[in-house]
Amino acid sequence: MVERANKPAAIPVSPTGPSPHVIFTADNSRVVASLPSGESVEVLLHGATVVSWKSAGTENLFLSDKAVLDGKKPVRGGIPLVFPVFGPPPSSGPLSTLPQHGFARSSRWEFLNQSSSEASTSARSAADDSVKLDFGLSSSNLSPESLRAWPHKFSIIYSVTLSKSTLQTTMLVRNESEVSFEFQLLMHTYLRVTDIGQVTVSGLNGASYIDKVKSASKAQETQSELGISGEMDRVYTGLQPQKPVVVSQGGKPRFEVIRDNLEDLVVWNPWIDKAAGMSDFAPQEAYKQMICIEAGAVNGWQKLEPGDTFEGVCSMKSVL
Ligand code: BG6
Repeated sequence: MVERANKPAAIPVSPTGPSPHVIFTADNSRVVASLPSGESVEVLLHGATVVSWKSAGTENLFLSDKAVLDGKKPVRGGIPLVFPVFGPPPSSGPLSTLPQHGFARSSRWEFLNQSSSEASTSARSAADDSVKLDFGLSSSNLSPESLRAWPHKFSIIYSVTLSKSTLQTTMLVRNESEVSFEFQLLMHTYLRVTDIGQVTVSGLNGASYIDKVKSASKAQETQSELGISGEMDRVYTGLQPQKPVVVSQGGKPRFEVIRDNLEDLVVWNPWIDKAAGMSDFAPQEAYKQMICIEAGAVNGWQKLEPGDTFEGVCSMKSVL
């Protein structure tokens, strides 16, 4: 398992120094958490979408200037959550009426809990601080349309843990019904980069992938440093757990992504034409400032028996 940046126990505020700070905005739209060392994270209740993650004053996530944040549309940027289906739903059968990428990113989640851990007073160091935010979605929160499309009793706890230079996101899906169900799940992270032409992705060499730009043909990665010079939409499958995927910029590591129990990873950049075709993508050249690195379980289906729980973790380190 990925080493948890924050164990669940809530530790009271230290009397000797500033502590992690969490606010629920007055309009009830989002939760903002920050650490004494300056890192921060902002999560919309709409979709439990992380819309900002800053380390040392630098924004790590891309958010489109035209992203719709009022719940009318999934957010174009940040970390939308994909569940229970990835991509377009199957063309027939009970899942066929689900929206693209499922309902999780379009549903309003509940803010459940916050907990923080701090260094002990004797060895106080801001580097040990972290804050964990828990959000929940269950069948009882779903819209009637979503319930019709996916009539299963379930609950998800989504935890966002901010610590110095790392953001960890965990999805815990539990089957609360009497019969098994199947799902796909993914964290659709839009990483911010300064120039896509300078970006390479390593850690995928040798992996099998489905190339959605080439009629879903199958291929094997042969590049140890994968560059992006056109539209890319690849689903890498069956990746080794714990092997980091590193996004470098100008030859220097910028993000390190480690997954636990999430064997698939999508690398997506819409490039010029697809970016121009999205009404909520702006400015149009912003495709140069983003790369989606999406950790998930999307190749085939995860089957969950009644009472069972699936846990998937993505841990991202910002290297500055
Ligand atoms: C990626 C898919 O995960 O999401 C792409 O692999 C898709 O095929 C992209 O275009 C964006 O999807 P959406 O629904 O947010 O426009």
